[in-house]
Amino acid sequence: MKAVAVTPRKPDSVHLAELPPPSLDDVVRLRGGREGHGVLMKVLKVGVDATDREINEGLYGNAPPGFDFLVLGHEFFGRVEAVGPKVTHVVPGDFVTCTVRRPGESIYDQIGTNDMTSEEVYYERGINLLHGYLTERVVDDAEFVVKMPKSLRHLHVLAEPMSCAAKAVQQAFEAQRRLKVWHPQRAFVQGAGQIGLLTTLILRLRGIEVYTLAWSKVRNPPSLKQQIVEGFGAHYVSLQETKIDEFAQKVGKPDLIVDATGNSEAAFRAMRALAHNGVLVWTSITGGNEETTIPSDKINIEWVLGNKLLVGSVNGNRHHFAAGIADLTLGEEMYPGVIKRILTHPVDGLDNYREMMRLLVEDKTALKVFVNVAEE
Ligand code: BGC
Ligand code: ZN
Repeated sequence: MKAVAVTPRKPDSVHLAELPPPSLDDVVRLRGGREGHGVLMKVLKVGVDATDREINEGLYGNAPPGFDFLVLGHEFFGRVEAVGPKVTHVVPGDFVTCTVRRPGESIYDQIGTNDMTSEEVYYERGINLLHGYLTERVVDDAEFVVKMPKSLRHLHVLAEPMSCAAKAVQQAFEAQRRLKVWHPQRAFVQGAGQIGLLTTLILRLRGIEVYTLAWSKVRNPPSLKQQIVEGFGAHYVSLQETKIDEFAQKVGKPDLIVDATGNSEAAFRAMRALAHNGVLVWTSITGGNEETTIPSDKINIEWVLGNKLLVGSVNGNRHHFAAGIADLTLGEEMYPGVIKRILTHPVDGLDNYREMMRLLVEDKTALKVFVNVAEE
């Protein structure tokens, strides 16, 4: 089987590798795999994102033990081909996605919440210590396989980024239970990449007024990002024209900020904009070594006097996938046809891995790059 791989920590090493085809019996050798619970899947589509870009830049990611390469790809969409005797929730022919993290040893891993592992080492398909999905067939334990309705198959690889957005919002609400009463009215989403746009959707579906702050300028005619933001009934704001804290002075400080810029300086700057009792959620992975100067006295006093909260959020477990899939379905009803506009740049076949990486690195209009691996 062909697979798209990198040599971790070696810049620009993306290449084609070979893997033996998997079988249902392999499940017992997989992390978190149980006898009889295997699901064999044909890979249909795989999305790539900034994490894959950073892995190929040599900034992030590790190969599985015994390999000198790591198969890329953690945003999976596929079809079930065969299931073990103990699998009950999917059958051959079903469209499915898969979670990314696999369990370690902590208590959180033992109860199906490996997204919250307390161990420093984490296992993620296509990212850290486990091969990803950019290949032809994969096998996994049914625990990590999530069924997708046939009617959502045009949104395919968005299920995984949507699970991360769903978790980020859920964490904010969960953490804010400290307040007894919390009815957020206004939210800022910083960053208008896939996580920013999907977070905008989720918050709009909760009836919150959303301002999505993007790097790019406000253009006339409006850019695709702007059209998508406005298609969800949110406001598009350019960070070229205003700073986040100045903007907050203008429209009122937000109760919730979700940062998905991929820029740690921007993540810190957002701290100046939050309302009293508010929550700021950081979701970006920044593999570099940037250092930045922050107004620490100001932030410190504002955060203490305002009882503000910062939460980091990573990954999503199967419940976040389910919540995300439910919101994608509702989103299609509320804002018909808008979500699929995120899926801008298809690449045909695993052989075109160089084009996949080129789009990811160079093409500023590529909101979402994904590989069409096989036909249904
Ligand atoms: C993935 C997450 C993962 C995170 C950290 C993101 O790109 O979508 O599932 O947990 O990277 O590795
Ligand atoms: Zn990702």
